[in-house]
Formats: sequence, structure tokens, C-alpha cells
Amino acid sequence: MMARDKPADTTMMGVVHDALRRDLIRLKDGLGTTPPPGDDRHKALAEHAEWMMNFLDDHHHGEDGGLWPLLRERAPHAGALLDRMTADHQRIGAAIEQTRLAAEHYRMDSGDDARAQFLAALATLAESLLPHLRSEEDEAMPLVSATITDAEWKQWDNRQNIRGKSISKLADEGHWLMDDLDRDRYETLTHLVPAPVRVVILKGYRRRYRTNCARRWGPHVFVGPRNGPAS
Ligand SMILES: [Fe+2]
Ligand SMILES: [Fe+2]
Repeated sequence: MMARDKPADTTMMGVVHDALRRDLIRLKDGLGTTPPPGDDRHKALAEHAEWMMNFLDDHHHGEDGGLWPLLRERAPHAGALLDRMTADHQRIGAAIEQTRLAAEHYRMDSGDDARAQFLAALATLAESLLPHLRSEEDEAMPLVSATITDAEWKQWDNRQNIRGKSISKLADEGHWLMDDLDRDRYETLTHLVPAPVRVVILKGYRRRYRTNCARRWGPHVFVGPRNGPAS
């Protein structure tokens, strides 16, 4: 078997999903503090949730627009599973919209009611999103590996998630994905871009990510890769 014909390595799907899981928890914890988040913190939390909702929307579009159609073509027996994945995205889409509205409201009004509505929207989102992430990992990703090659997976990933994005956007997403990541997956993630781009992202944008994290989570939340290289 040629290297490019080996089964798709879907590690990156888990990396993306884990980042979503991690920050849903951080948002819930950050909004639930006593006393509640102050002026700058509340805005930073709201802005980050809005950023995450855009990211999640894009993630779903990439799956619906590129990955599922390829699987449907190659594995006609998987229709029911893919119908379920698509229906999940539609349901989650409504929760994303609610979360976006609640975050926007909270950004402009840090009062208890707006904060409670934001927390409720995040809880509703988690209710539909978390089981979906799990079944995508447990059911859809094995089908991907059994059906498409690693070269095809990389082509999709590159087209959907990397190509055409500015370094600044890649850096925002890259540092967000490598946050709290184990060493092996950190290596996989950082090697998706060519070495010169990787160096610029790692060296040039680390401080910006950490400053933004300190603004929303406070200075005591660890936001580097786990067992990663010294910063
Ligand atoms: Fe996914
Ligand atoms: Fe999905």
C-alpha cells in the first residue's frame, strides 16, 4: 500500500471536538464565578463565545459540504448514519444561533438576567452538541477511515480548514486547538502547515493568544499545550 493510500487518519476531528468541549466548560465556569465576571471579563467571554459559534458553524459546513457527500458516494450503506449527522447539525444550528444572540446580549449587558440567559443557551447547546461529537467520533470517523484514503482526508482538511486563511486566522485557530493538547496530537496539528508558517504562528502569535485567554479566563487557567515544548 502506498503511503497516500493508507486509511484516513482522523486525529484532527478529535482535536477540534476536544477544543469545543474544553471551552464549553471554561465558559460555563467563567460565567458562574462569584462575584460574576466584571466589565472587561464579561465582554471577553461573550466575544469568545461568538468566535466559537462562527468556528462551529464553519466546522459543520465543512462536514456537510465536503466530507459527508464523499462518504455517501463511496459508502451507500452509510446513508442513515449520514442523515443523522446532517439532522444533528441542523438541530445544533438552532442552538448555535440562540447562543450567538445570548452572547451578543450579554456583551452589551452584564446583568444577572443576561448572564443567566447566556448560561442557559450554552447548556442547551451542550445538550445537543456533546452527544453529536461523540457519535461522530465513534461511528462516522471509523467509516471515514474505512472508506477514504489519508490523501483524500488531507485534501478535504486543507481545502476546508487551511487554504485561503490569513496567518492571523490560522494562528487564532491553531493556538486555540493546541491549548491543553497532548504532545502527539500537538505534533500532528502543528505539522499541518509548512515549517515557515508554523514558526511564525508559534513564535509570533503565542503571546496574543495567552493575553486574550487571560482576559477571558483570568490569569490562572493553563492555556499551553500539555507536555509541549517550552514556550
Ligand atoms: Fe466534527
Ligand atoms: Fe459534526
